[in-house]
Amino acid sequence: MSQITDSAPAGAFPRLDWVDDVLSPALRSAVESLPAAESLVAGYHRGWCEADGTPRPAASGGGKTVRPALALLSAVAVGADPSQAVPAAVAVELVHDFTLLHDDVIDGDALRRHRPAAWLMFGTPAAVLTGDALLVAALRVLTQAPPDRAGAAVRELVGTLLELVEGQSRDVAFEQTQEVSVADYLGMAAGKTGSLIGCACALGGVLAGADTVRVGGLREFGRSLGLAFQCADDILGIWGRSSRSGKPVGADLAARKKSLPVVAALAARGTAAERLRELYRTPHRPGETDVDLARRLVEEAGGRQAAEEEARRHLTAAMRFLSLARPTADAYRQLHDIAWAMTRRES
Ligand code: IPE
Ligand code: IPE
Ligand code: MG
Ligand code: MG
Repeated sequence: MSQITDSAPAGAFPRLDWVDDVLSPALRSAVESLPAAESLVAGYHRGWCEADGTPRPAASGGGKTVRPALALLSAVAVGADPSQAVPAAVAVELVHDFTLLHDDVIDGDALRRHRPAAWLMFGTPAAVLTGDALLVAALRVLTQAPPDRAGAAVRELVGTLLELVEGQSRDVAFEQTQEVSVADYLGMAAGKTGSLIGCACALGGVLAGADTVRVGGLREFGRSLGLAFQCADDILGIWGRSSRSGKPVGADLAARKKSLPVVAALAARGTAAERLRELYRTPHRPGETDVDLARRLVEEAGGRQAAEEEARRHLTAAMRFLSLARPTADAYRQLHDIAWAMTRRES
């Protein structure tokens, strides 16, 4: 099996070519099976076509496909051929796309994967309905897995979805909450992000026929990795570059999201933390100057460093959990490389 290669442009997320080869036909077929209007919006969101349906070059846009990569590699980790986990890989990417479509509506974010968000191009109803359709397509793909494993796979995904909804719901509620602790944040992030990344890994094991101990190790690996990934994402949302991430920078601060650097900074001692708390108490929506000030204060109060430390802590925990799954040496190395790339990324 090939190792992770950075064949993409400088600064881009390293991708495994074989993952794209295994994933693409099944993912395309699932998206193309949607009703025409939703298939178009989903194709646009994935970077496959322009808003009028004109195809785009294969390599342009799209996401990092880390969840499918984790699902396929998790199957390899327990000794199976990655082809066995294709329904898992497709399902988690479809769910991920569904959550992103809805998330941009919820967050009011206008930029996704370097392009105008789907709600901006097609309207909120179309983005919401496409998300709904993708969720159904994900469940349908899993029901088509071999009958002795499909039931367990669907149960795994259904449990994840409820956790994910709760995480997103808490994320929104925290915008209006002054006192959010790091523990509160971690509970929310485990739901909105850890649950699906954990599910990707667990489903790879389930469709490979692994025992419950190995599936459990894979699930916990993914959940901790998901937390580390979200910490890294929060850092990019404040100090990243839009030209690299393809997402807005500063929007979390403008919306008073309780991302981890903010939560840690608000709880800190010292003048910067006190000024930040004052800024967060003012009722008006922050303008660009307030966002710049908040960014500086969060850094001065130690919020960035705290988030980096938290990301490292969860990455270390993830690798410990992975050992419980007794992965093959080759898969361990590849999962390790992906996990590191996911937490040290610019996109
Ligand atoms: C973005 O996920 C949402 C988070 C959970 C942070 P990704 O960073 O995996 O998004 P794409 O698929 O690569 O665009
Ligand atoms: C990540 O949400 C989790 C989901 C989308 C379910 P965020 O709002 O933190 O992620 P980005 O930064 O918009 O990708
Ligand atoms: Mg968002
Ligand atoms: Mg969000």
